[in-house]
Amino acid sequence: MDKLIIRGQKRLKGEVTVSGAKNAALGVLPAALLLSDVCTIENVPNILDITILKGIMETLGVRFENIDNNTLRIDTRNINSYVATTPDMNKLRGSYYLMGALLGRFKRALVTFPGGCNLGVRPIDQHIKGFESLGAKVEIERGCIKLTANKLVGAPIYLDVVSVGATVNIMLAAVRAEGLTTIENAAKEPHIVDIANFLNAMGADIKGAGTDVIRIRGVKSLKGGIVHSLIPDQIEAGTYMIAAAATKGDVLVKNVIPKHMESLTAKLMEMNVKVEEFDDSIRIFVKDRLSKVNIKTLPYPGFPTDLQPPAAVLLLRTDGISTITESIFENRFQYIEELKRMGANIRVEGRMAVIEGGSKLTGAPIKATDLRAGAACVLAGLIADGETEISNVHYIDRGYENMVEKLQKLGADIKRISDGQE
Ligand code: UD1
Repeated sequence: MDKLIIRGQKRLKGEVTVSGAKNAALGVLPAALLLSDVCTIENVPNILDITILKGIMETLGVRFENIDNNTLRIDTRNINSYVATTPDMNKLRGSYYLMGALLGRFKRALVTFPGGCNLGVRPIDQHIKGFESLGAKVEIERGCIKLTANKLVGAPIYLDVVSVGATVNIMLAAVRAEGLTTIENAAKEPHIVDIANFLNAMGADIKGAGTDVIRIRGVKSLKGGIVHSLIPDQIEAGTYMIAAAATKGDVLVKNVIPKHMESLTAKLMEMNVKVEEFDDSIRIFVKDRLSKVNIKTLPYPGFPTDLQPPAAVLLLRTDGISTITESIFENRFQYIEELKRMGANIRVEGRMAVIEGGSKLTGAPIKATDLRAGAACVLAGLIADGETEISNVHYIDRGYENMVEKLQKLGADIKRISDGQE
């Protein structure tokens, strides 16, 4: 089990390049299952979630070829199975897209319940409602979801909650269904648009992705040979922007779409962080004292829940008392116990964290409790006095490409050690 060792209180300075979006990649790779041909995906992040997903897809008969470090050729001509029940399935949330993709391709799927970060109850009732509306029979058998349909027929579907996963899954299942599917109250996250763009490039007919009504007119077949470049990871970008502000540094975050970062940049500016936007990069630097703010997580374009844990660390650097209200997931404050070990003054009241700025953090042994909690631990280590040792690094590997190297390049004193290594 590897650990990260951080000696804090170094201001981050320089440039960092953001990788391709994890959550876009987790949708686009399964989307390729709807095709019986070859396609190429660029800007694929080298992260553990993708390695695991590729391994699962290989068991279905998919062939992957790495053209270069971040370019992947996907060959779906020899898929011979609609069964995705390997133990790896519950290592990540994104495995749920195999339901929609396999159902869309084979009219049947047998898929293990998805895993992913433990953020409280994470139901998939809206996914199931969507599949049933398209004509699928849904059965639960020994921890697996079995989907079967004679044919899939487009239908109007209203989501009772705004769900990223259900929106994409219904889109995947509907691409080759007969007739028109409409998803109302759809999620609007940038990676939903990216996945729709990929599907449309293959010949799908999806309109409205990025708005709360998506219309999918079923097509008989899709064409291969396309090259699709994934959008930059808005959460990775946000993590480095917050890290720059928290260390009172000066960082140019490159390969970002500034529009995707608006909820964060607005909050940073409200705190007195300086933000300069360029076409595809954002400079973050700090000149003044930081003032308290209140943050509430919301579906896009609101403040992303995935940036909530890193943002909590930044709020420790402000004058006064700030709050974070988590409105997406019921249990996303587990990392706060770790921050408290370092001296953070935070109390949790139901869905709200009350964060007292100005308390001095000191290095301590802490553990990542999930992916974005891991990012918060790293940021806490970067601002703390002394040495912080972070265990459960595999969570961070799930979603951050070369985080240690990227931070080292910005001047952080961070290294990764294997167990037993000094
Ligand atoms: C996705 C992202 C995750 C991000 C989250 C919210 C991926 C692989 N993961 O997760 O990084 O934190 O969006 O932006 O893209 N819900 C239901 N029933 C359902 C589905 C969801 O009640 O059938 C609820 C969830 O419990 C949660 C809310 O809806 O309270 C939003 O969840 P959802 O958008 O589906 O998140 P995920 O797709 O799991």
